[in-house]
Amino acid sequence: MKKTINVALPKGRLGDRVYSLFERAGYACPSILDPGRKLLFENEEAGVRYFSVKPSDVPIYVERGVADVGVAGADILLEYSPDVYELCDLRLGRCRMAVAAKKDFRDDNSRPLRVATKYPAIAREYYRSLGRDIDVIKLNGSIEIAPLLGLSDVIVDIVETGKTLAENGLVPFATVTEISARLIANKVSYEFKNKEIREMASRAEAAAVGGEK
Ligand code: PRP
Repeated sequence: MKKTINVALPKGRLGDRVYSLFERAGYACPSILDPGRKLLFENEEAGVRYFSVKPSDVPIYVERGVADVGVAGADILLEYSPDVYELCDLRLGRCRMAVAAKKDFRDDNSRPLRVATKYPAIAREYYRSLGRDIDVIKLNGSIEIAPLLGLSDVIVDIVETGKTLAENGLVPFATVTEISARLIANKVSYEFKNKEIREMASRAEAAAVGGEK
């Protein structure tokens, strides 16, 4: 008998696009499109059950096996390093993690660089690789305001269109890493539901490549 796969989807804009991809891949679940407040959706025939969760929580559900697979941005995976398998790149939610600052910013090597970010682990690793001492200021949103108010020298944040930076008079100085959505799997589920998960990964990857054409 075909085993049901539990899928953790990120809530919000990326989640809607990820669901369309899964629909194209043959895992439709029309009740998910109902604009109510339900967070759990199942299509027994297609062998799939979706949960909608906060994007940064997806790896937690997958790591603990409540979800067999999930979709998370490379930013979340790099920041939290969950113990999961990364199956494929879904080529959605493409953006980059960048260092940005005010136009007239000049680094002063005589003191630690103050870095505001939602991603302290990524920022630490990046500056460690450059051998630069930093003072990390962890924020939870609206990062672009930090250099404007003198809270930090630079920010390490997601840049998609670049509009938020431009509208706040900031410029990107360096790219830390490229980001896109990844399909991840729980390690135990990958053994026990191997056939179903591999089939899902290959169909999702084909739909991702097809979606780009
Ligand atoms: C993200 C990111 C930037 C913005 C970049 O913020 O932190 O602020 O999007 O997008 P852009 O380059 O297209 O302007 P998000 O909307 O997630 O809100 P946040 O302030 O809570 O981080």
